Amino acid sequence: MPCKLRNQRLLPTIDDLEEKYGLKGSKVLLRVDINSPIDPETGEILDDSRIRAHSVTVRDLAERGAAVVVLSHQGRPGESDFTSLRRHAELLSKHSGVPVEFVDDVIGPEARRRISELGPGEVLLLDNTRLMSEEIIEAKPERHAKSIFVQRLAPLVNYYVNDAFATAHRSQPSIVGFPLLMPSAVGRVMEKELAALARLYSAEERPRVFVLGGGKVHDTLRILEYLHANKAADRVLTAGLVAELFLVAKGIDIGEANRRLLETKGILALVPRARRLLLRGIPLETPLDFVTVVDDEVRVEPVGAVKGLIRDIGPQTVKMYSEIMKEARLIVLRGPAGVVEDPRFREGSRALVKAAIESSAFVIIGGGHLNAIVSELGLQDRENLHISTGGGALLLFLAGEELPGLVALQLSASKFFPEFAAQAPGHEEKGVATRS
Ligand code: 3PG
Repeated sequence: MPCKLRNQRLLPTIDDLEEKYGLKGSKVLLRVDINSPIDPETGEILDDSRIRAHSVTVRDLAERGAAVVVLSHQGRPGESDFTSLRRHAELLSKHSGVPVEFVDDVIGPEARRRISELGPGEVLLLDNTRLMSEEIIEAKPERHAKSIFVQRLAPLVNYYVNDAFATAHRSQPSIVGFPLLMPSAVGRVMEKELAALARLYSAEERPRVFVLGGGKVHDTLRILEYLHANKAADRVLTAGLVAELFLVAKGIDIGEANRRLLETKGILALVPRARRLLLRGIPLETPLDFVTVVDDEVRVEPVGAVKGLIRDIGPQTVKMYSEIMKEARLIVLRGPAGVVEDPRFREGSRALVKAAIESSAFVIIGGGHLNAIVSELGLQDRENLHISTGGGALLLFLAGEELPGLVALQLSASKFFPEFAAQAPGHEEKGVATRS
């Protein structure tokens, strides 16, 4: 069954590709996002959760008798995590149970020879797509379809599968260039992400509670503006620097040290926007107390009398937020509540994650810090939980932005699955949502 977007357009899945075109004996180019944190000293992969997630799609395609050519980026040129994908191939083999051959080439003669020789059920992982300078360019699908990157690989494969939700916000050749040229579909990870996010737009899943913390205050404010304009949030529970911004916007004293920090980070400039949201009646809660540090001493201070540097939300806040979450049908948690790198300030985030997952709501969690906390609490296998692979892509999605990777798949569907377009008019609306 296809994935249904919020604009009512349908995106083909692997099943649709199989049904209409057949996968046995075909060659599939599979774009995944196995971009992982890398130890700068040893080059070791520190967290292989994305590799584990995509191994499901690799196995699925291989078991259907397709020859699978896997593409991914890792890091950005010039950064310490910009590495080859050799280690990723070993882990992809281990998790998928299918031998994954690594080719230290992307579009050169060696890569093309190995793709041509690839047999049914066999899997190749090409090297880091960002070794290609074209991959750094952001451009429209039509332009990238003509890039050397795409032109070299496209004739060697029959289909394109995009499983890289976490890179769907990039308009780069490996994401948007191929779908225009061949029948394309979403992979299993992308399908799962879209199905979970679709719940954000379902009328039944209310009340919807958003718990927003973390350091990306500019992005979070954009999310809040979008949520409020679309009446998508029944309650927003703020933590971290976002909470401090809204306390200032409410005219509440957060203490000199915290105010100075907001100023240094350019966050005080956002106060008028935060105030506007409050004036328009956004249903937003701010903390009642904080865990702070004063002269190396950890304290709990009530809001209004904060003297120390804010490091986490306090117990009264956890209690109030947990009560609110009990009523929710859908909870989105994005960004930690405190400085979780320090174990003394991890409790607020741990308590919120626990309260959300133990409520009767469906829970969507995004961001590396919270994902690590879910594993630490041993709650990762809960049925009411979706852990998103998306970082920037999830933020932009929540802020209502159109994701180029999905737009390219829609363009592809109108060409190679016209029956889907006929079923679902209204393509001008932004974003994605449900699974039909
Ligand atoms: C991510 O980790 O957010 C994705 O892999 C995208 O990486 P990028 O921000 O370097 O494009």
